[in-house]
Amino acid sequence: MPVRGNLISIDDALNASKSEVKEWFREYINPDLCLTLELVGFDEVYDKAEGITVYIDGKPYLDFLCGYGVAALGHNHPKIIKEIYKVKEQPNFFQAALSPLTAALARNLALITPGSLRKSFFCNSGAEAVEGALKLARAATHRKKIIYTENSFHGKTMGALSATGRGKYQAPFEPLLPDFESIPFGDSEALREKLREGDVAAFIVEPIQGEGGVILPPEGYLKELEKLCREYEALLILDEIQTGLGRTGAMFACEHEGVEPDILCLAKALSGAAIPIGVYITTDEIWKKAYGSMERCLLHTSTFGGNAWACAAALATLDLLCRDKGRLIKEAGDKGEYFLNKLESLKNRNPIVKEVRGKGLMIGMEFDQPKFLKGALSDLFRKYSASLVASELKDEYSVITAYTLNNPNVIRFLPPLLVSTDQIDYVVESLDKICHRGFSGVVLGAGWKAGKRLIRKGFTREYIE
Ligand SMILES: Cc1ncc(COP(=O)(O)O)c(C=O)c1O
Repeated sequence: MPVRGNLISIDDALNASKSEVKEWFREYINPDLCLTLELVGFDEVYDKAEGITVYIDGKPYLDFLCGYGVAALGHNHPKIIKEIYKVKEQPNFFQAALSPLTAALARNLALITPGSLRKSFFCNSGAEAVEGALKLARAATHRKKIIYTENSFHGKTMGALSATGRGKYQAPFEPLLPDFESIPFGDSEALREKLREGDVAAFIVEPIQGEGGVILPPEGYLKELEKLCREYEALLILDEIQTGLGRTGAMFACEHEGVEPDILCLAKALSGAAIPIGVYITTDEIWKKAYGSMERCLLHTSTFGGNAWACAAALATLDLLCRDKGRLIKEAGDKGEYFLNKLESLKNRNPIVKEVRGKGLMIGMEFDQPKFLKGALSDLFRKYSASLVASELKDEYSVITAYTLNNPNVIRFLPPLLVSTDQIDYVVESLDKICHRGFSGVVLGAGWKAGKRLIRKGFTREYIE
């Protein structure tokens, strides 16, 4: 067997220098992603993570992004790690059998999810949970049409992408799946129009659009969707992959309006930031219609789905979230309100900030567009405002944040639920100092650093268009 060179061991990898790691990424993964990270100074190698803090050579950084919402309980939570090790002698992947951990997790999910959701399907990512939900809806209703919202994000596999309302992600992969149609987010009348045709299998929606820029729908929207879907016998799929499990100050965002979806998708935080897991949960009735016979019970499966380690991580996560009657979640709601109020007054002091919005600890801050900056500087701000601010926050104040995928002018904050008010104060003060510099200050500060990095690499403006 030809092995072209020495294989790198785990120990070698852990001891590799930053330039070696970068080289491997550039050569063997994605050179342009590497460059993008480099431009905004995010090409770092973190060597330790604990709670809300991540470290580079002992230097601490506050993680207000937490793996895009994955580390809701912080990084390397000792209880989660300990619980995972309890199953180390169990067969981890043994599909032709009944795993007590998978069964227990499904039972616990049925106890905490709204309405009569009871049947779980386990997989390994958010997109896969969405794929499963879309297939379930078609199989259960014998209808084809799926309605989704503009500016949504449901993942990048073919089915999930077909329901993701962003042309940039969809266009290179067309034709996508047939019978997917979009409507504006927050517009229940538009949904009624679609449902009237009587051929809709499901409507899929995020309670708050995360990657869309933390967009909240009008009050009562979800309740109206639930009513409409029931009236026209279409299924309501709620994608709570980002909003779920305490993020918005309730276990599930739909609880704020007392809404009971037909299918609920979860992933991210369920992993305890330890082992990937995704799941959809549905009612007995829907599940039975789709897969309720020996003939059909294996129509949709996943080799890795429901493995013992992932289920142990999820069981430990749910246990921590539910303790003391969900104290952590309630506190997250209160801290989110505190954070939002502080950002609101920051906005009033800084014309560079257009809007602050969110619920619980899912918060976005949108930057305004400079009217007096012209040409390349204006373009730079328009396309990279949130990245430029995130870059300054990291470099100067050791705080990790990021922009939202569908809107580069929104910087998002998804700190772990256990963030303290002192940490929130520190982040708001740091942001305030950056925003105080105004458009030109931010562009000339972070933009200049990014520009210098680009020029050093010999890239032209066209490259980043
Ligand atoms: C609401 C929502 N749905 C689906 C996904 C896709 O999840 P994954 O990246 O695990 O496939 C995401 C990821 O950010 C998300 O925010």
